Amino acid sequence: MTKKSEIKKGDPETTGHSWDGIEEFNNPLPRWRVWVFYLTIIWGIGYTIAYPAWPGIQSSTAGLLGWSTRANVAADIAAVDEANAPINERLASVELTEITADPELSGYATSAGAAVFQTWCAQCHGSGAAGGKGYPNLLDDSWLWGGTMEDIHYTITHGIRNEDDPDARWSEMPAFGRDELLEEPQIEQAVNYVMSLSGEPRDASLVEAGEQVYLDNCAACHMDDGTGDYFQGAPNISDAIWLYGGDYESLYDTIYNSRFGVMPPWSEEASPAGRLSEAEIRAVTAYVHQLGGGE
Ligand code: HEC
Ligand code: HEC
Repeated sequence: MTKKSEIKKGDPETTGHSWDGIEEFNNPLPRWRVWVFYLTIIWGIGYTIAYPAWPGIQSSTAGLLGWSTRANVAADIAAVDEANAPINERLASVELTEITADPELSGYATSAGAAVFQTWCAQCHGSGAAGGKGYPNLLDDSWLWGGTMEDIHYTITHGIRNEDDPDARWSEMPAFGRDELLEEPQIEQAVNYVMSLSGEPRDASLVEAGEQVYLDNCAACHMDDGTGDYFQGAPNISDAIWLYGGDYESLYDTIYNSRFGVMPPWSEEASPAGRLSEAEIRAVTAYVHQLGGGE
């Protein structure tokens, strides 16, 4: 814009509008920019037809090309599954002992198993598998139900003391106090004896009386020397490794009320949600087996 008096020769034409003596040059956009502008409008309309664009109340227009991030992720996952199909098939069908013997298979199983463990097992056993009170440490070689590939595979497939799988591992320690199988002084003696098995210095007369209580009531499951029995899931109570605590109060509580550790089954048939495939169960079996305590 410029004042009329300042318009020089060679300036563009004015539009003829004039305010307070100020006139407006007529400076149209260059042709090519006008066309680019029209093209962007056409492109924009085409884009919103081809791709998901206009928001609705529940969702948005889907677009003629049917493109979606969800479908892309699903396709990526399917591609990985397909690439892993042959090795998963082999993992699910070979003898369990062959998994540990074959470096390619065990390498794959261990890393796939680590992912399964973090997703399905870590909330109970801890992300480092060290467990906690009532949840066994899977890093050591102290096993409740056995530490061979077969043992671990069975435990994971069917679980422990659950109602979902008729083949679940099952055993029940009697509640000696609550069910009045033993008098309180006898429980006290048994606690002292159990503590002495791990090398704790205890009152000798209580330990001696406790040994008799133990042999009469406990040895059938925990064995004469306290080393336990995989077959019944009866823990070794002479190794100073405790699932429910080794102090006087915890042991008294264990013997008085008993314990009842439950683990869900993971097989597709038994778990209501159909959680893990055979290949996944075997992968996590191999992972747990190599953590340190595999037999
Ligand atoms: C809801 C909690 C829970 C989840 C989830 C769970 N566990 Fe367990 N697990 C337990 C309990 C409790 C025990 C011990 C039961 C007992 O006292 O005998 C156990 C025992 C075990 C044992 C036997 C250890 C031994 O010493 O014999 C293995 C192996 C095992 N779990 C592996 C797994 C794997 C692998 C997963 C994931 C696929 C898993 N667990 C998920 C609770 C759980
Ligand atoms: C019928 C077999 C059976 C008998 C008999 C039995 N127990 Fe047990 N005991 C078990 C089982 C099974 C467990 C594991 C329970 C669990 O994991 O939830 C257990 C667990 C324990 C624990 C816990 C160990 C830990 O690591 O925390 C102690 C201690 C124990 N028993 C002591 C005794 C004593 C003492 C007696 C005798 C007065 C006895 N038990 C009799 C089967 C038995």
